[in-house]
Amino acid sequence: MTSDRPWALVTGASSGLGVDFARQLAERGWNVVLTARRRERMQALAVSLRDKHRAEVVIIDGDLGQQAFRDQLVEQATSGRQLTMVVNNAGFGQQGGFLDTDYQRWSDMLALNIAALTDVAYRLGQHMRAHGKPAYLINISSIGAFQPVPHFAVYAATKSYVRDFSEAFAIEVAGSSLSVTCVCPGGTRTEFMDTAGMTLTKLTDASLQSSESVVREALETALARRRVVVTGWMNKVMTFMTRFAPRWLAAKLAELAMRPPS
Ligand SMILES: NC(=O)c1ccc[n+]([C@@H]2O[C@H](COP(=O)([O-])OP(=O)(O)OC[C@H]3O[C@@H](n4cnc5c(N)ncnc54)[C@H](OP(=O)(O)O)[C@@H]3O)[C@@H](O)[C@H]2O)c1
Repeated sequence: MTSDRPWALVTGASSGLGVDFARQLAERGWNVVLTARRRERMQALAVSLRDKHRAEVVIIDGDLGQQAFRDQLVEQATSGRQLTMVVNNAGFGQQGGFLDTDYQRWSDMLALNIAALTDVAYRLGQHMRAHGKPAYLINISSIGAFQPVPHFAVYAATKSYVRDFSEAFAIEVAGSSLSVTCVCPGGTRTEFMDTAGMTLTKLTDASLQSSESVVREALETALARRRVVVTGWMNKVMTFMTRFAPRWLAAKLAELAMRPPS
Protein backbone atom coordinates (compact mmCIF):
# COMPACT_ATOMS: atom_id res chain seq x y z
CA MET A 1 0.00 0.00 0.00
CA THR A 2 1.39 3.40 -0.94
CA SER A 3 -1.67 5.64 -0.62
CA ASP A 4 -0.62 7.24 2.68
CA ARG A 5 2.77 8.29 1.29
CA PRO A 6 3.38 12.03 0.92
CA TRP A 7 3.62 13.49 -2.61
CA ALA A 8 6.48 15.61 -3.98
CA LEU A 9 6.62 17.39 -7.34
CA VAL A 10 10.07 17.60 -8.92
CA THR A 11 10.76 19.86 -11.91
CA GLY A 12 13.64 19.01 -14.24
CA ALA A 13 13.16 15.33 -13.40
CA SER A 14 14.59 13.90 -16.65
CA SER A 15 18.25 14.38 -15.74
CA GLY A 16 20.85 15.34 -13.12
CA LEU A 17 19.70 16.65 -9.74
CA GLY A 18 16.02 16.16 -10.59
CA VAL A 19 16.50 12.41 -11.12
CA ASP A 20 18.33 12.15 -7.79
CA PHE A 21 15.62 14.14 -5.98
CA ALA A 22 13.04 11.68 -7.35
CA ARG A 23 15.17 8.63 -6.42
CA GLN A 24 16.02 9.78 -2.90
CA LEU A 25 12.45 10.87 -2.17
CA ALA A 26 11.13 7.49 -3.35
CA GLU A 27 13.76 5.76 -1.16
CA ARG A 28 12.45 7.79 1.78
CA GLY A 29 8.88 6.62 1.11
CA TRP A 30 7.51 9.47 -1.01
CA ASN A 31 5.38 9.38 -4.17
CA VAL A 32 6.51 11.73 -6.94
CA VAL A 33 5.10 13.86 -9.74
CA LEU A 34 7.86 14.21 -12.37
CA THR A 35 7.99 17.02 -14.91
CA ALA A 36 10.40 17.96 -17.72
CA ARG A 37 10.22 17.87 -21.54
CA ARG A 38 11.80 14.45 -22.19
CA ARG A 39 9.01 12.00 -21.39
CA GLU A 40 10.92 8.78 -22.26
CA ARG A 41 13.62 9.57 -19.68
CA MET A 42 10.99 10.06 -16.98
CA GLN A 43 9.16 6.89 -18.02
CA ALA A 44 12.35 4.86 -17.51
CA LEU A 45 12.88 6.51 -14.11
CA ALA A 46 9.25 5.84 -13.15
CA VAL A 47 9.65 2.11 -13.88
CA SER A 48 12.64 1.87 -11.54
CA LEU A 49 10.97 3.92 -8.76
CA ARG A 50 7.86 1.73 -8.90
CA ASP A 51 9.89 -1.51 -8.96
CA LYS A 52 12.52 -0.65 -6.35
CA HIS A 53 10.55 1.54 -3.95
CA ARG A 54 6.88 0.79 -4.69
CA ALA A 55 6.39 4.54 -5.23
CA GLU A 56 3.44 5.95 -7.13
CA VAL A 57 4.73 8.09 -9.99
CA VAL A 58 2.91 10.59 -12.20
CA ILE A 59 4.57 12.10 -15.29
CA ILE A 60 3.48 15.45 -16.71
CA ASP A 61 5.74 16.40 -19.63
CA GLY A 62 6.07 19.82 -21.22
CA ASP A 63 8.01 23.07 -21.47
CA LEU A 64 7.96 24.88 -18.12
CA GLY A 65 8.96 28.11 -19.84
CA GLN A 66 5.44 28.24 -21.33
CA GLN A 67 2.64 29.69 -19.20
CA ALA A 68 0.05 27.38 -20.83
CA PHE A 69 2.04 24.30 -19.78
CA ARG A 70 2.41 25.62 -16.22
CA ASP A 71 -1.38 26.03 -16.02
CA GLN A 72 -1.76 22.40 -17.09
CA LEU A 73 0.95 21.24 -14.67
CA VAL A 74 -0.57 22.93 -11.63
CA GLU A 75 -4.04 21.66 -12.51
CA GLN A 76 -2.95 18.04 -13.08
CA ALA A 77 -0.45 17.87 -10.21
CA THR A 78 -2.97 19.03 -7.60
CA SER A 79 -6.08 17.32 -8.92
CA GLY A 80 -7.07 14.76 -6.27
CA ARG A 81 -3.75 15.03 -4.45
CA GLN A 82 -2.10 17.23 -1.83
CA LEU A 83 1.54 18.06 -2.49
CA THR A 84 3.81 18.03 0.57
CA MET A 85 6.99 19.09 -1.27
CA VAL A 86 7.77 21.04 -4.43
CA VAL A 87 11.33 20.99 -5.81
CA ASN A 88 11.82 23.94 -8.16
CA ASN A 89 14.87 22.46 -9.86
CA ALA A 90 14.56 22.88 -13.66
CA GLY A 91 17.06 25.39 -14.98
CA PHE A 92 19.95 25.81 -17.40
CA GLY A 93 23.07 27.89 -17.91
CA GLN A 94 25.01 29.20 -20.89
CA GLN A 95 28.66 30.14 -21.06
CA GLY A 96 29.50 33.04 -23.38
CA GLY A 97 29.64 36.78 -23.79
CA PHE A 98 26.33 38.59 -23.31
CA LEU A 99 26.46 40.28 -26.72
CA ASP A 100 27.95 37.26 -28.47
CA THR A 101 25.08 34.87 -27.74
CA ASP A 102 21.71 34.69 -29.49
CA TYR A 103 19.22 36.69 -27.41
CA GLN A 104 16.68 33.85 -27.59
CA ARG A 105 18.96 31.85 -25.27
CA TRP A 106 18.87 34.59 -22.60
CA SER A 107 15.14 35.03 -23.06
CA ASP A 108 14.50 31.27 -22.59
CA MET A 109 16.75 31.30 -19.52
CA LEU A 110 14.90 34.19 -17.89
CA ALA A 111 11.58 32.46 -18.67
CA LEU A 112 12.68 29.18 -17.04
CA ASN A 113 15.11 30.13 -14.26
CA ILE A 114 13.09 33.13 -13.02
CA ALA A 115 9.51 33.34 -14.35
CA ALA A 116 8.67 29.62 -14.20
CA LEU A 117 10.31 29.14 -10.78
CA THR A 118 8.41 32.11 -9.34
CA ASP A 119 5.07 31.05 -10.86
CA VAL A 120 5.43 27.47 -9.57
CA ALA A 121 6.46 28.78 -6.12
CA TYR A 122 3.42 31.07 -6.07
CA ARG A 123 0.75 28.66 -7.23
CA LEU A 124 1.98 25.53 -5.51
CA GLY A 125 2.92 27.62 -2.45
CA GLN A 126 -0.75 28.70 -2.30
CA HIS A 127 -1.78 25.05 -2.65
CA MET A 128 0.56 23.89 0.16
CA ARG A 129 -0.44 26.75 2.46
CA ALA A 130 -4.14 26.05 1.83
CA HIS A 131 -3.98 22.37 2.86
CA GLY A 132 -2.28 23.47 6.09
CA LYS A 133 -0.17 20.32 6.65
CA PRO A 134 3.63 20.55 7.03
CA ALA A 135 5.04 21.31 3.55
CA TYR A 136 8.36 22.13 1.92
CA LEU A 137 9.40 24.28 -1.04
CA ILE A 138 12.94 23.80 -2.36
CA ASN A 139 14.36 26.33 -4.86
CA ILE A 140 17.63 25.51 -6.60
CA SER A 141 20.03 28.44 -6.84
CA SER A 142 23.83 28.15 -7.26
CA ILE A 143 27.11 29.40 -5.83
CA GLY A 144 26.97 31.66 -8.91
CA ALA A 145 24.50 33.69 -6.84
CA PHE A 146 27.26 34.97 -4.53
CA GLN A 147 29.03 37.29 -6.99
CA PRO A 148 28.71 38.57 -10.58
CA VAL A 149 30.10 35.97 -13.03
CA PRO A 150 31.47 37.32 -16.33
CA HIS A 151 30.86 34.92 -19.28
CA PHE A 152 27.97 33.49 -17.24
CA ALA A 153 26.42 36.89 -16.55
CA VAL A 154 22.74 36.17 -17.18
CA TYR A 155 22.79 32.73 -15.55
CA ALA A 156 24.51 33.96 -12.37
CA ALA A 157 22.07 36.87 -12.17
CA THR A 158 19.08 34.51 -12.45
CA LYS A 159 20.50 32.50 -9.56
CA SER A 160 21.03 35.67 -7.47
CA TYR A 161 17.33 36.33 -8.03
CA VAL A 162 16.47 32.80 -6.86
CA ARG A 163 18.60 33.21 -3.73
CA ASP A 164 17.23 36.64 -2.75
CA PHE A 165 13.64 35.67 -3.51
CA SER A 166 13.87 32.37 -1.61
CA GLU A 167 15.52 33.80 1.50
CA ALA A 168 12.96 36.61 1.71
CA PHE A 169 10.02 34.26 1.10
CA ALA A 170 11.41 31.84 3.72
CA ILE A 171 11.30 34.59 6.33
CA GLU A 172 7.75 35.60 5.31
CA VAL A 173 6.45 32.08 5.99
CA ALA A 174 8.70 31.25 8.98
CA GLY A 175 6.71 29.55 11.75
CA SER A 176 3.92 28.46 9.37
CA SER A 177 3.27 24.96 8.00
CA LEU A 178 5.27 25.86 4.85
CA SER A 179 9.06 26.14 4.84
CA VAL A 180 11.26 27.42 2.01
CA THR A 181 14.82 26.20 1.42
CA CYS A 182 17.30 27.65 -1.06
CA VAL A 183 19.93 25.18 -2.27
CA CYS A 184 23.21 26.55 -3.70
CA PRO A 185 25.29 23.85 -5.39
CA GLY A 186 28.67 24.43 -7.02
CA GLY A 187 29.86 22.47 -10.06
CA THR A 188 28.01 19.14 -10.05
CA ARG A 189 28.32 16.17 -12.39
CA THR A 190 25.11 16.36 -14.48
CA GLU A 191 24.20 17.33 -18.05
CA PHE A 192 24.37 21.01 -17.01
CA MET A 193 27.90 21.62 -18.39
CA ASP A 194 27.06 20.16 -21.83
CA THR A 195 23.86 22.20 -22.06
CA ALA A 196 25.82 25.32 -21.06
CA GLY A 197 28.46 24.65 -23.76
CA MET A 198 31.30 24.43 -21.23
CA THR A 199 34.60 22.66 -21.64
CA LEU A 200 36.12 21.72 -18.31
CA THR A 201 39.77 21.63 -17.34
CA LYS A 202 40.89 18.37 -15.64
CA LEU A 203 41.12 20.26 -12.35
CA THR A 204 37.56 21.60 -12.59
CA ASP A 205 36.26 18.22 -13.68
CA ALA A 206 37.92 16.58 -10.65
CA SER A 207 36.33 19.12 -8.30
CA LEU A 208 32.72 18.43 -9.36
CA GLN A 209 30.37 17.10 -6.69
CA SER A 210 28.18 14.10 -7.36
CA SER A 211 24.53 14.81 -7.93
CA GLU A 212 23.61 12.22 -5.23
CA SER A 213 25.58 14.05 -2.52
CA VAL A 214 24.15 17.47 -3.48
CA VAL A 215 20.61 16.10 -3.27
CA ARG A 216 21.25 14.31 0.04
CA GLU A 217 22.42 17.55 1.64
CA ALA A 218 19.56 19.49 0.02
CA LEU A 219 16.90 17.12 1.35
CA GLU A 220 18.38 16.97 4.86
CA THR A 221 18.39 20.79 4.97
CA ALA A 222 14.85 21.14 3.62
CA LEU A 223 13.37 18.47 5.91
CA ALA A 224 15.01 20.25 8.87
CA ARG A 225 13.21 23.41 7.62
CA ARG A 226 16.45 25.37 7.27
CA ARG A 227 16.54 28.34 4.89
CA VAL A 228 19.77 27.97 2.89
CA VAL A 229 22.43 25.41 2.13
CA VAL A 230 25.62 25.76 0.11
CA THR A 231 26.42 22.14 -0.73
CA GLY A 232 29.89 20.63 -0.22
CA TRP A 233 32.70 21.89 2.04
CA MET A 234 34.73 23.49 -0.78
CA ASN A 235 31.75 25.55 -1.92
CA LYS A 236 31.02 26.54 1.69
CA VAL A 237 34.60 27.84 2.06
CA MET A 238 34.53 29.67 -1.30
CA THR A 239 31.21 31.41 -0.70
CA PHE A 240 32.28 32.35 2.83
CA MET A 241 35.44 34.00 1.43
CA THR A 242 33.39 36.17 -0.97
CA ARG A 243 32.12 38.05 2.11
CA PHE A 244 35.59 39.54 2.58
CA ALA A 245 36.38 40.46 -1.05
CA PRO A 246 35.13 43.63 -2.76
CA ARG A 247 32.56 42.73 -5.42
CA TRP A 248 34.86 43.77 -8.32
CA LEU A 249 37.55 41.38 -7.06
CA ALA A 250 35.09 38.51 -6.56
CA ALA A 251 33.81 39.12 -10.12
CA LYS A 252 37.38 39.19 -11.54
CA LEU A 253 38.20 35.89 -9.80
CA ALA A 254 34.96 34.39 -11.14
CA GLU A 255 35.96 35.60 -14.61
CA LEU A 256 39.27 33.73 -14.38
CA ALA A 257 37.39 30.55 -13.51
CA MET A 258 34.63 30.90 -16.10
CA ARG A 259 36.32 32.48 -19.14
CA PRO A 260 35.89 30.12 -22.12
CA PRO A 261 39.20 28.76 -23.51
CA SER A 262 40.32 30.94 -26.48
N1 LIG B 1 25.21 20.97 -12.37
C1 LIG B 1 25.73 22.07 -11.84
O1 LIG B 1 26.95 22.29 -11.87
C2 LIG B 1 24.82 23.07 -11.15
C3 LIG B 1 25.40 23.97 -10.26
C4 LIG B 1 24.59 24.89 -9.61
C5 LIG B 1 23.22 24.89 -9.84
N2 LIG B 1 22.68 24.00 -10.72
C6 LIG B 1 21.23 24.06 -10.95
O2 LIG B 1 20.68 22.78 -10.68
C7 LIG B 1 19.45 22.65 -11.39
C8 LIG B 1 19.40 21.29 -12.07
O3 LIG B 1 20.39 21.25 -13.08
P1 LIG B 1 21.24 19.94 -13.39
O4 LIG B 1 22.63 20.21 -12.97
O5 LIG B 1 20.57 18.73 -12.87
O6 LIG B 1 21.23 19.99 -14.99
P2 LIG B 1 20.64 19.01 -16.08
O7 LIG B 1 21.17 17.63 -15.89
O8 LIG B 1 20.90 19.68 -17.39
O9 LIG B 1 19.06 19.00 -15.78
C9 LIG B 1 18.24 20.09 -16.08
C10 LIG B 1 16.78 19.65 -16.02
O10 LIG B 1 15.96 20.79 -16.33
C11 LIG B 1 15.00 20.39 -17.31
N3 LIG B 1 14.63 21.52 -18.18
C12 LIG B 1 15.46 22.31 -18.91
N4 LIG B 1 14.73 23.19 -19.65
C13 LIG B 1 13.42 22.93 -19.37
C14 LIG B 1 12.20 23.48 -19.82
N5 LIG B 1 12.15 24.50 -20.69
N6 LIG B 1 11.03 22.96 -19.34
C15 LIG B 1 11.05 21.93 -18.45
N7 LIG B 1 12.19 21.37 -17.98
C16 LIG B 1 13.35 21.86 -18.44
C17 LIG B 1 15.71 19.31 -18.12
O11 LIG B 1 14.74 18.46 -18.71
P3 LIG B 1 14.30 18.42 -20.26
O12 LIG B 1 15.49 18.81 -21.09
O13 LIG B 1 13.86 17.02 -20.45
O14 LIG B 1 13.18 19.39 -20.35
C18 LIG B 1 16.47 18.56 -17.03
O15 LIG B 1 15.61 17.61 -16.44
C19 LIG B 1 19.38 23.84 -12.35
O16 LIG B 1 18.51 24.82 -11.82
C20 LIG B 1 20.80 24.36 -12.37
O17 LIG B 1 20.87 25.74 -12.66
C21 LIG B 1 23.44 23.07 -11.36
